[in-house]
Amino acid sequence: MSENYSLSRSNAHFKKAEQRLPVGVTSTYRYWGPEDTLYTSHAKGARLWDIDGNEYVDYRIGYGPAILGYADDRVDEAAREGMKVGGPTALSTELEWSVAERIAGMVPSVDLVRFANSGTEAVMAGLRLARSFTGRSSHVMIEGGYHGLFDGVLWETEHSTTSSGEVDLQIQPEGKGVPSILRSLIHPVPLNDIEALERVLHAHGSEIAAVLIEVILGNAGGIAAEPDYIQNVRSLCDKHGVVLFMDEVKTGFRVARGGVQELMGVKADISTFAKAMGNGYPISALAGRKEIMSTIRPGGAAQGGTYAGHPVSLAAANKTLEILDETDALEKIASYGTRLQEGISHLLSKKGITHVWSGHSSMSGLFFRDTVPRSYTDWVNSDFELYDGLAARLISKGILVEPDSREPLFVSAAHDESCLDETLQKFEEVLTAELDSRAQS
Ligand SMILES: Cc1ncc(COP(=O)(O)O)c(C=O)c1O
Repeated sequence: MSENYSLSRSNAHFKKAEQRLPVGVTSTYRYWGPEDTLYTSHAKGARLWDIDGNEYVDYRIGYGPAILGYADDRVDEAAREGMKVGGPTALSTELEWSVAERIAGMVPSVDLVRFANSGTEAVMAGLRLARSFTGRSSHVMIEGGYHGLFDGVLWETEHSTTSSGEVDLQIQPEGKGVPSILRSLIHPVPLNDIEALERVLHAHGSEIAAVLIEVILGNAGGIAAEPDYIQNVRSLCDKHGVVLFMDEVKTGFRVARGGVQELMGVKADISTFAKAMGNGYPISALAGRKEIMSTIRPGGAAQGGTYAGHPVSLAAANKTLEILDETDALEKIASYGTRLQEGISHLLSKKGITHVWSGHSSMSGLFFRDTVPRSYTDWVNSDFELYDGLAARLISKGILVEPDSREPLFVSAAHDESCLDETLQKFEEVLTAELDSRAQS
């Protein structure tokens, strides 16, 4: 551990916080244990400071939102303009059209857009929309996908193989309180296994409203769908009259201007966007083909809410999307991500450590295995303990990565040469220390 690294103030605050907040935090993913839970003081650009004054180069950037860097002056200025509206008035504003028009210009599959506050809310509304459009009740989910904190998607898979060698996925509620009665509505399939999807659609197609998919598993190391697979998913959805629902909460406006759909050359029927679209301001979008989206209407599928289309968030999104659309921010991010991967790969290869990268250079996963992972099982079977050891040491040296190897390394347009040099220098120190300690144990 770094000599000067201390979390004494975070540790003391944790003791106080847990008296008022379950496990001392507001989102359970932020709880890293009594000794390691961090509390933020402030963040700017690609750097974050905790309440002990420790400075970090941040590769979590809030799980993806701060695509231009924390506290981007241009976006914050726009948000201050948005405040002049006076808050949500329970009426619409002109800005809603501006942001919707921008999204439709960037993502070819989009005709109509509705806004919400979080990824969870948008996906929840999207599933309702798919059910309303098709008149069917259930949905397909991809093993290792994450779609937010609501009962219809809080299911995790248990992986086994049948005697004939087919993958057999069972599902369990993720955590307590998820009604088991919903189990029959969810059909899990592994990524990149088109036969598994075909079997499910053949058996249950007439009950399935949507195939809900993160084309790059942003919560499972960035494991990516292969282009052929996603083309075949598109065809199967068409064949069975199922809505292809791409959850682009993490990939949207990050991996390409038109999201992962542009990268793969496939159009979704409906999509959800969040994170990168507001550079940290709370906003999400449900967007898609007119025929489906227009089911949202009086007497049709419900969508909305008191804070939906909040003028501050919309103003921030309007500016963020303008910058992502009209400048080379995404090219800079991808180039930094590539150099980060190359630098880390060089250090790992010098030590003879087999590894591969998955996902996109702007949100990549590091796997200690010899072939690019194709499904969640490949993460389960990889040496993620080496990642875990490196991550803990990197954090204490001021390189903030997620302790859980399933969270990709996120890059922002504010990551610069100083960040890269510092990251690679510290990675080398940490790698040596981790390998020494593994050799001794
Ligand atoms: C792909 C995906 N969908 C949905 C969500 C839920 O978004 P939120 O945390 O804003 O509710 C997330 C969050 O990480 C996500 O990665």
